[in-house]
Amino acid sequence: MKKILLISISLFTIGKVQAQNLLAIPDTLNGTDFNLHIKDTFHTFYPGFTTTTMGVNASYLGPTLIFNQGDSVSLNVTNDLMEETTIHWHGLHVATENDGGPHTTIPMMTTWNPKFTVRDHAAMYWYHPHMHMMTNMHATMGAAGLIIVRDTVEAELDLPRKYNVDDFPLVIQSKCFSATKQIEVDNASDSVMLVNGTVDAYLPTPAQVVRFRVLNASSERVYNLGLEGGLTFYQIGTDGGLLNAPVALTRLKLAPGERAELLVNFTGMEGQTISLMSYASELPNGTYGAAQPGMGPGQTIPGYLANVLNGADFQIMEFSIVAQTASPVTTIPTALITNTPWQLSDADVFRTKLFEPVNMGPTAIQGPFTINATPFDMMMINDTVFLNDVEVWTLSNQSPISHPFHIHDIQFYITDVNGGAVPANMQGRKDVVLVPPMQTVTFITKFETFCDEDGKYMYHCHMLPHEDEGMMGQFIVTCKVAETEENSLVNFSIYPNPSNGNFTVQIQENSNGQLTITNQLGEPVLITTLAESITVDLSAFADGIYFFTLSSENGISTQRVVKN
Ligand code: C2O
Ligand code: CU
Repeated sequence: MKKILLISISLFTIGKVQAQNLLAIPDTLNGTDFNLHIKDTFHTFYPGFTTTTMGVNASYLGPTLIFNQGDSVSLNVTNDLMEETTIHWHGLHVATENDGGPHTTIPMMTTWNPKFTVRDHAAMYWYHPHMHMMTNMHATMGAAGLIIVRDTVEAELDLPRKYNVDDFPLVIQSKCFSATKQIEVDNASDSVMLVNGTVDAYLPTPAQVVRFRVLNASSERVYNLGLEGGLTFYQIGTDGGLLNAPVALTRLKLAPGERAELLVNFTGMEGQTISLMSYASELPNGTYGAAQPGMGPGQTIPGYLANVLNGADFQIMEFSIVAQTASPVTTIPTALITNTPWQLSDADVFRTKLFEPVNMGPTAIQGPFTINATPFDMMMINDTVFLNDVEVWTLSNQSPISHPFHIHDIQFYITDVNGGAVPANMQGRKDVVLVPPMQTVTFITKFETFCDEDGKYMYHCHMLPHEDEGMMGQFIVTCKVAETEENSLVNFSIYPNPSNGNFTVQIQENSNGQLTITNQLGEPVLITTLAESITVDLSAFADGIYFFTLSSENGISTQRVVKN
């Protein structure tokens, strides 16, 4: 034993230990009719060990579905597990009955057949189970796969797009294996890195511009991606589409559920080996993956501190650079597409979602967590949205750990990060955003196309144990037209906004109301009565986001202001 240890140490000091296993690349399925079988199966992650898994048409993870925007697709999803599950098309804009949320269960030995038109922009999406309280179990065991949507706008660009030639999917996961190499779900000893299900993976990568479509499919872990030696890479796409232009980066934080499309120019580097790293030593405390998962003293998770990945810089996989392919792309484009975000002035409704721990003190970060103090309830509709409304949601994390927030049905644009500017690489269409502890993120979106009085869409934390433990809510998009009265009777205006202190609040109808101003922690800072118009002075309060809620006998509505 001792000898082996010494040899491996000396290898490490002499030169870099090369990754051992060729990266698996999921097969693709094309066309408009897809057959997926979810099954209990076995996979070999380690030679000589048979690991019990769940797979979709495969022993671990599933095929990559290639969709074309505008196509009508039909999917036969057969559940051959010994239990119920669901399959959700994460990021796709589909009607509730096709969304595969926790209400759309597929009983054992039955087939679910959603059919829908692909309305999404070219990007990478994914599918995974969404069974109430079982999502982490089913996803961690391997029942998940990728979806690549192609569209005509993306097809015009000079980008690598030959799957497994110059365009590679990378599904990044950390996992806990027992001594007999069985998967342990919801265990903070998730110290093994997998890419596409391959342990210690390398990819022969051509010496040209290569596209990586990266998904963080981990249950909880956040990565701080970077290339060895500080090699620059370019983010070209976010969860739901391309950016306006490539953004040069040396680090990229990727949270559970999030995707990023990256270009790397390996031209002239044939023969070299470059590691894809997570520089987790740079993650601020209060994020799963940092040295300390919580911000407060003593706040940790059992098993967390002993996990070698936490707070350390580690290799995720290796690219071994080989000869160029025929007709390679060799330059990074300067421009991509034109995103046209909705404007704050178009907003019909403002909502706030507060993330809080149920327990206080040292165990606060162990969960459960709630959204607006309400644990998930299958029978409760937490929000009702009017079809075609533009809404602004402020996510306010009042807990000591970062949470990646995800919402079904729509893609959104981030309008501010903690009251400040949105980094260039976060200005694209998104469906997941990481909200750091004691910070806010605000997004704008429009609820289009689908409405239904019964069907429910989810929003939740994409740390799967948090979701399973109730950090989730559901909304309906109603087809009822908002009656002008209902809408206008609680209308009020606030100006100037932003302001450095004084805000004039004007009620637009002949009624009196009560004005409550809360800070981003949800704490009231001022309560006053309002008749027609009033000026409030917030100069004594800290800069940041405030919510002005007006309630009158006609209703209640909230607007968001920025004091700067
Ligand atoms: Cu990735 Cu509600 O899911
Ligand atoms: Cu969470």
